[in-house]
Amino acid sequence: MPEIMIEAKHLVKKFGDVTAVNDVNFAVKKGEIFAFLGPNGAGKSTTIKMLTTLLKPTSGKLQLNGYDVAKDKDNVRKSFGIIFQDPSVDDELTAYENMQLHGDMYGIERTVLKKRIEELMKLVELWERSKFQVKTFSGGMKRRLEIARGLLHHPKVLFLDEPTLGLDTQTRNLMWNYIKQLSDKEGTTIFFTTHYLEEAEQVADRIAFIDHGQIVATGTSKELEKQTDTKSLEEAYLKLTGSGLRDEDNSGTNDRMRLRNRARGSR
Ligand SMILES: Nc1ncnc2c1ncn2[C@@H]1O[C@H](COP(=O)(O)OP(=O)(O)OP(=O)(O)O)[C@@H](O)[C@H]1O
Ligand SMILES: [Mg+2]
Repeated sequence: MPEIMIEAKHLVKKFGDVTAVNDVNFAVKKGEIFAFLGPNGAGKSTTIKMLTTLLKPTSGKLQLNGYDVAKDKDNVRKSFGIIFQDPSVDDELTAYENMQLHGDMYGIERTVLKKRIEELMKLVELWERSKFQVKTFSGGMKRRLEIARGLLHHPKVLFLDEPTLGLDTQTRNLMWNYIKQLSDKEGTTIFFTTHYLEEAEQVADRIAFIDHGQIVATGTSKELEKQTDTKSLEEAYLKLTGSGLRDEDNSGTNDRMRLRNRARGSR
């Protein structure tokens, strides 16, 4: 039987009156690339925050790399890397220092660290800028640095919350190729969210649709089309999550979904 790397059982998170995550259940196998898709406010980031020990669930059980997330935080934290929805690199430090700090935090041996920093910064095409303070970077460059940093300690599980938001096509392709390689070569388990459905279609082994805090369907892209009797992942997605707008969020991401949904609705 394949090893389960991430497991959520009856996961619930309430913020006051709002139930952000409402009885979510799923399991992700070792080496699997799993996508979490859903409208703004669906509960994606909240789920990731609970899996990565940043938020405490209201109820339910979470396991990561065989460890109980509530009881074994240290081992859980050593098992994953995360790329946040909002950039979290330090503006005052140089790009290189950001990488180094992260590597030291994870206790990566110096010679290995040096090699990896160079390899990853070249991958995201920031090597020439490694000695620049991050505050001189564009949004996309910060994002690329964030991605390089998240990959630095070759974690068993990598969480990516909308990693490609605002990135150009070239960088997106580079990033996904690298991540796929990581998953193939090192058996890294990948859990990501995106609002680009075509990205999930191309990259993910399995996809879960989440809406209003609940998983409404899970499967491969093809299985989801079959389940919904539709011809594309986008159609399947809209059929299951509806084309109504979500009020909660006014971010740029929402605008993109809004345009997309509007285009659909007016047909
Ligand atoms: N710290 C918090 N306090 C109160 N409510 C919160 C908090 N964090 C999230 N929420 C609410 O929980 C719900 C789920 O939010 P979450 O950030 O998980 O959505 P998401 O699926 O990641 O959306 P997006 O695609 O916009 O990133 C939303 O209704 C949100 O307003
Ligand atoms: Mg989010």
